[in-house]
Amino acid sequence: MAVVADTGPSAGTDAAVLAEAGRRRTFAIISHPDAGKTTLTEKFLLFAGAVTEAGAVKARAGQRRVRSDWMALEQQRGISITSTVLQFTYRDHVVNLLDTPGHRDFSEDTYRVLTAVDAAVMVLDAAKGIEAQTRKLFEVCRAQRLPVLTFLNKYDRPGRDPLELMDEIESQIGLRPTPVTWPVGEPGDFRGVVDRRTGELVRFPRTAHGATVSAEERVAPDRAAVEEGTAWAQALEGCALLDEVGATYDEPSFLAGESSPLFVGSALTNFGVGHLLDAVVDLAPSAAPRPDSSGAPRPLDGGFSGFVFKIQANMNPAHRDHVAFVRICSGRFERGSSPVHAATGRPFATKYASAMFGAERATIDVAYPGDVVGLVNASELRIGDTLYLDDAVQYPPLVTFAPELFARMRNRDSSRAKQFRRGLERLEQEGTVQVLSDPDGDPTPVLGAVGAMQFEVAAHRMTHEFGAAVDIEPTSYTTARKTNAETARMLRSVPGTRILARADGTLLALFESPFRLARLAGDNPSWVLDPLVGDVADAG
Ligand code: G4P
Repeated sequence: MAVVADTGPSAGTDAAVLAEAGRRRTFAIISHPDAGKTTLTEKFLLFAGAVTEAGAVKARAGQRRVRSDWMALEQQRGISITSTVLQFTYRDHVVNLLDTPGHRDFSEDTYRVLTAVDAAVMVLDAAKGIEAQTRKLFEVCRAQRLPVLTFLNKYDRPGRDPLELMDEIESQIGLRPTPVTWPVGEPGDFRGVVDRRTGELVRFPRTAHGATVSAEERVAPDRAAVEEGTAWAQALEGCALLDEVGATYDEPSFLAGESSPLFVGSALTNFGVGHLLDAVVDLAPSAAPRPDSSGAPRPLDGGFSGFVFKIQANMNPAHRDHVAFVRICSGRFERGSSPVHAATGRPFATKYASAMFGAERATIDVAYPGDVVGLVNASELRIGDTLYLDDAVQYPPLVTFAPELFARMRNRDSSRAKQFRRGLERLEQEGTVQVLSDPDGDPTPVLGAVGAMQFEVAAHRMTHEFGAAVDIEPTSYTTARKTNAETARMLRSVPGTRILARADGTLLALFESPFRLARLAGDNPSWVLDPLVGDVADAG
């Protein structure tokens, strides 16, 4: 009898890896400080049963500050430099929530996290709408075509008209909101939401305080009409308008990062949080095969592969500690395996792989596409580096972002020139700051950053880790554009601009204000002045 080769859909595939990858959702929350990211994160954990009482995340953060002997700078400033990867299960899915550090610890790491997720949740304060930091982070999402879910938060208190907010989202960031839930009641007199999928009212419990998850009250439309009167009628009018303009959930445009399912709620009182978390599981995609540097996608069930998107160095001064955070793209990661470090061709030992919950490490033994593992003692690894097993793969380098702050770094002691050079090179490779130099002029390096804390971290590490004390001198430049040699030649004679080069040779033109840049670009349309990822300098 002839043996028939197995050519079915599962031929040659690793079903277990595909199933594990398929039940993962890896996302980040983008928001402006105070919009409610921490509160929402905490409520996600509460809904998923990962914490039993609201307040646990903040309490944990407090404990950590007391206990931790991490970087002195972190303690002095009382801020968290370390980004958090939270993993929890919800409805048989494994959810990885990657933190995007905000407030004063906003840095390129905040942007880089967005290169390691499959979707983002954009949280807006319903009284404020789109704010500066949301816009910057959204630009990074757009550059990656990330699907974005929108949460209009703080609906329990007076806010803006929802139609006006929708217009603002569309006109300011070019994302088309498609409300899945729609508010009932005027801002300040919130009654709940219409679930547009079922037509029911989901009632806002007025006495809710949000410490625990309470059952959701769903009210049929007929009863809602009686009980909520005009508020219900107005909400239905709003929904009819949404139907008319086609503002309804649309999977292809959501997955392409063009439209965004919108949910209305109040993280503080838990309202709407369940809808959003369900949407993360039901609508947001799981990991897709990641294209390698030639553009060919690596099958999810191929050999293990991943890339480094964040490096946390020198957290513990007692032992020069380097943790590289690796986003897994394919295959099954097993602690103790020795994947190849694509940049050097050498094996990398993963004996000390860990998962992070806040600052607390737990050893991780197995992980799948979508997961993030922290590799300890990873001083050879650099931002963007690829690790793999089996078939060789090299992922493209991570994008570099538009710096908005520029400062000169001066070596205090010329006898430490070697340490200074070595330290600077290292900080650049680890992505702590961007290091720019003037190919023809002042040899003092200029550092580029998106958040001031990057300079502080750089100065701290130069002094304490590399033994070269430095001074940081701010400059008045605020905007950078990618340019070419020809335009650079013209710009050198323009006052108030400066031409600097990145280590990879890319030329950047620096300007003191976006208006000056806009004028020069307007007057000289043939000049090459290309925006960089994350650049929103001209937005109002
Ligand atoms: P962030 O991480 O985005 O910076 O925001 P965070 O969650 O810390 O929330 C900022 C403030 O907004 C907090 O108040 C928080 O309680 C409040 N908040 C978050 N979600 C809601 C909501 O749905 N409704 C209302 N009314 N408030 C909300 P705070 O007074 O600054 O801090 P706390 O003392 O309450 O911790």
